Amino acid sequence: MSDPLFTPLEFAGLRLKNRIVIPPMGTGLDDDGVFNDAAIAYYRRRATGGAGTVTVEALLVDPETRGPEPKIFDRSYLPGLRALVDALRPHDVVIGAQLLHPGRQVLTGRRVAPSPVALNSAAPVPDELTPGQIAEIVGQFADAAALAQEAGFDFVEIHGAHGYLPSDFLSPLANRRTDGYGGDVERRARFPREIVRAITQRCGPELPVFYRLSGEEALPGGSTIEDAQVVAGLLAAEGVVCISVSAGHWRSLEVTLAPMFVARGHLVELAARIRRAVSVPVIAVGRLDDPADARRVLQSGSADLVAIGRGLIAEPDWAALVAAGREDDLRPCIACNACVDLVGRGEEIRCAVNPEVGRDHAGRPQPADPPRRVAVVGSGPAGMEAARVARLRGHAVSIWERDAQLGGKLEAAASAPSKREVLRFRDYEVRTLHALGVEVHTGTEVTRDVIDRHGPDVVVVATGAAAVVPPFGKAEGVEIQDAQLFLDGTLSVSPGEAVAVIGGSATGCETAEMLAGEGAHVTVLEMAPSVGTGIEAITRRHLIRTLRRSGVDILTGARVTAVEPGRVRFEREGEEAAVAADRVALAVGWRSRAHDLVREGDGRELLVVGDALVPADFVAAVNAGADAGLMA
Ligand SMILES: Cc1cc2nc3c(=O)[nH]c(=O)nc-3n(C[C@H](O)[C@H](O)[C@H](O)COP(=O)(O)OP(=O)(O)OC[C@H]3O[C@@H](n4cnc5c(N)ncnc54)[C@H](O)[C@@H]3O)c2cc1C
Ligand SMILES: Cc1cc2nc3c(=O)[nH]c(=O)nc-3n(C[C@H](O)[C@H](O)[C@H](O)COP(=O)(O)O)c2cc1C
Repeated sequence: MSDPLFTPLEFAGLRLKNRIVIPPMGTGLDDDGVFNDAAIAYYRRRATGGAGTVTVEALLVDPETRGPEPKIFDRSYLPGLRALVDALRPHDVVIGAQLLHPGRQVLTGRRVAPSPVALNSAAPVPDELTPGQIAEIVGQFADAAALAQEAGFDFVEIHGAHGYLPSDFLSPLANRRTDGYGGDVERRARFPREIVRAITQRCGPELPVFYRLSGEEALPGGSTIEDAQVVAGLLAAEGVVCISVSAGHWRSLEVTLAPMFVARGHLVELAARIRRAVSVPVIAVGRLDDPADARRVLQSGSADLVAIGRGLIAEPDWAALVAAGREDDLRPCIACNACVDLVGRGEEIRCAVNPEVGRDHAGRPQPADPPRRVAVVGSGPAGMEAARVARLRGHAVSIWERDAQLGGKLEAAASAPSKREVLRFRDYEVRTLHALGVEVHTGTEVTRDVIDRHGPDVVVVATGAAAVVPPFGKAEGVEIQDAQLFLDGTLSVSPGEAVAVIGGSATGCETAEMLAGEGAHVTVLEMAPSVGTGIEAITRRHLIRTLRRSGVDILTGARVTAVEPGRVRFEREGEEAAVAADRVALAVGWRSRAHDLVREGDGRELLVVGDALVPADFVAAVNAGADAGLMA
């Protein structure tokens, strides 16, 4: 039987060679709104990976909105857009451009909305659009579509989801208008319909118009799937040829960009319900990067096409590998959201599991000349990537780990119930190192003697970081344990035990989550004003909610002064206080491990990477590891 993922689809004059769509995803790879070489390489890399459709990220249509996104509001952007299309054209992909008006979610520039409703209590109140201004923005969408057509795009997609301007018009929360643009769902849909009509009038049927719709806003009182079904019908009647069904809003981002703890395929039912309401093709999205899930969406008739976002950031060859039956070789996205976190902060896209992302223009690793003997000490993400890349280049590579298995802190990072997915990355790396023929030594504490006996030309030190132990960490008569020992299962708690977790960073919060799940009464003591700093925003919000729901006491601004039998003393707002504690878990930070594995005069090259250099995160470790593999 033929694979439904690879069945072509034709509609509206487009011929899609398969059912796999790269949805629009911001990259931060532009210079003042113009795609740069890195962006072109990023998109080209994905176009060569076998997906049938590439939707280029949201492009700003309004010159008065000065967001970080690339732009399409005047002819000066044409050459950059053309260069991008020209780079993708040889790869047999259908190419779309997403058009965006951010509305209230603008970062700088004019902040407009259907009604003067602020995004949240800290955000400025937007200006209510007049009918004249609405007409002006409708015109901007049409102008932008015409530019996209001139640049050679095969279709445009209106960004009508995620709380941006068109979806705010659809939202009963954001749209309180009493004129022809507000009221019941038909009236709220007037603005999106006018955009579609204006584009069709300007560009003709030769430019198919897709629409990205939030199947629901996922906010109390927000737009619902029933609304979205009506809107989808109205848009199709207006000439929209394909509906891409996403969901969520700025305040319900865990729906839009489901972190790893959200069940896969959580938006498929919304797509299925839209598909029942319209006769145009429908795109489903939302963690569909497991090929079996993606096939099921198509086979069950829930959607005509599947969009795979973060999965195709992590694994640009997803479609080609699946087509070749090489599913075990897929580099797994762990939905950690590091990519979107970076882009949201105005930085370039990077990936926690794939060091080539955003640096695609560097090309594939080149053969080493001459090949050398490379010893990698430590097998966390930095060490494993260093070993993988060095081996790909043809070096004779060994990796050394003192623990019984490879993976470094990935095991601890996967311990919290919400983070099991991290192990998929570890398992992929381990499989890859074995397949590449890297010599693996586990259960070996590497010393200088080991290095001297082995005699490598290059030593990559990827030994990670050790937990910081503050002065009270060695208190008399009390056992204070490294939080990691709870996370890795070396230690456990009994139900009802009182546990104080000192430190509220990722490690502290995840230890608290795990121990509360085991029935302990947990208190987190954090010196800073908030916990979870450094954790990606969507995940952090969820983690803090989970801690509160499981009854964890979170004490911020609390500086621990002493640990005594049965209690932890702390200072807060100038007052002394204490919490009862049968056990104490310490998670106050990390410091790089000192080493003396190579000394001057040894004649060996030394590269220090990852937490061993500066304690940070997966993105930093993976990228630095890969760099070491390239430099070796
Ligand atoms: C609980 C927890 C949760 C985390 N969650 C996240 C997250 O969600 N996202 C994120 O980005 N980051 C997270 N981190 C941080 C992330 O795990 C680290 O930044 C990353 O693992 C660093 O990688 P690395 O390869 O440099 O070092 P490590 O992963 O620490 O690996 C170093 C390895 O070297 C070995 N080693 C040390 N000395 C020797 C020696 N002499 N001989 C042989 N082997 C040796 C160690 O045993 C270890 O296996 C988390 C960390 C923890 C502890
Ligand atoms: C880095 C990043 C940037 C994104 N930018 C956009 C965007 O510009 N427009 C849009 O409609 N969705 C955007 N999204 C959402 C994706 O298109 C997609 O809906 C989301 O990632 C869920 O799909 P997935 O689970 O397959 O990743 C972005 C997602 C990511 C990860």
